[in-house]
Amino acid sequence: MSLYQLFKSKGPSGFGYGSTAEEVTRGLSLQGKNILVTGCTSGLGQEAMRVLAQRGAKVLGTARTLEKARAACEAAGGGAVPLACELSDPGSVRACVEAVKRGGDRLDALVCNAGIMALPRLEQAHGIELQFFTNHVGHFILVTGLLDRLAEDGRVVMLSSGAHNMAPKEGIRFDDLAGAKGYTPWGHYGQSKLANLLFAKELARRLAGTRRTANAVHPGVIRTNLGRHMPSFANLVFGLVGPLFLKTVAQGAATEVYVAVHPAVATTSGAYFADCNVAKPRADADDPALARRLWEASEEIVSRLPAR
Ligand SMILES: NC(=O)c1ccc[n+]([C@@H]2O[C@H](COP(=O)([O-])OP(=O)(O)OC[C@H]3O[C@@H](n4cnc5c(N)ncnc54)[C@H](OP(=O)(O)O)[C@@H]3O)[C@@H](O)[C@H]2O)c1
Repeated sequence: MSLYQLFKSKGPSGFGYGSTAEEVTRGLSLQGKNILVTGCTSGLGQEAMRVLAQRGAKVLGTARTLEKARAACEAAGGGAVPLACELSDPGSVRACVEAVKRGGDRLDALVCNAGIMALPRLEQAHGIELQFFTNHVGHFILVTGLLDRLAEDGRVVMLSSGAHNMAPKEGIRFDDLAGAKGYTPWGHYGQSKLANLLFAKELARRLAGTRRTANAVHPGVIRTNLGRHMPSFANLVFGLVGPLFLKTVAQGAATEVYVAVHPAVATTSGAYFADCNVAKPRADADDPALARRLWEASEEIVSRLPAR
């Protein structure tokens, strides 16, 4: 397939690789909808917040600090509600849950977008490898804390990645979530993104029989601040040839926004989306026993964290 065809091709949804967040929401009114987006200061989260607000949604935009969230919400037009949520700090995540509850809003969608990638050296939070903690455990605390605020037809959207394929062969290394027995930047990023996917699958199973949904997405490959830990040579190459084969940020935000609000996916749950269409993840991402084990391991991790 040529680059031109790839850019133009559309899947069964009517959208595809080249669709932007504005295109997938064209004609939709999101007036009266409350949507929480994590990581609204940069890249895909910033664009998702801008477009959702443009369509009328009240966006609750989270960032590591309140100051950062305020600045991002103001830059998006001022209508969004800024919230602090440092995902590697359980106290901050719990405070965010409480702040949302105090605000009283029902959430129509929770877009778990924030993330870090390929930290060059092993870092940990509360004894857990930092990418797993930030990308998965932080969002686990946030989502499970806010489930009772999710509207009857509310949607949870987890930002996974095609990089879930880089997770270890055995899926999740439950015997070494600290990463101490052999850390690799991409293997551990992949493991955290497989965890995002498995979490969406298990949450969908737990929400079965309700109108609430949970899905995971791969946004595409987009040059954003996510690459901040990549070697400068790789960033240089990305910068030079990226425009030829990478998605733009507007295109990268399309899939998460589509899954969060488009009426066509209101009843789709437990799926993995790429380019605004249902896609197939690697085989063990569909293993319900693995997904259940991850949920139980996550509960166990959370139970050991300090209460404040
Ligand atoms: N870009 C891609 O090619 C690509 C491909 C596949 C999947 N994804 C996924 O898409 C999502 C968005 O990525 P992006 O490309 O938009 O990256 P980005 O530009 O780096 O944005 C990431 C956002 O997450 C926030 N964040 C990072 N660590 C956090 C923490 N500990 N607590 C709270 N917020 C934190 C960042 O805040 P700060 O700016 O304050 O750090 C930023 O707002 C990520 O989950 C990523 O894994 C991206």
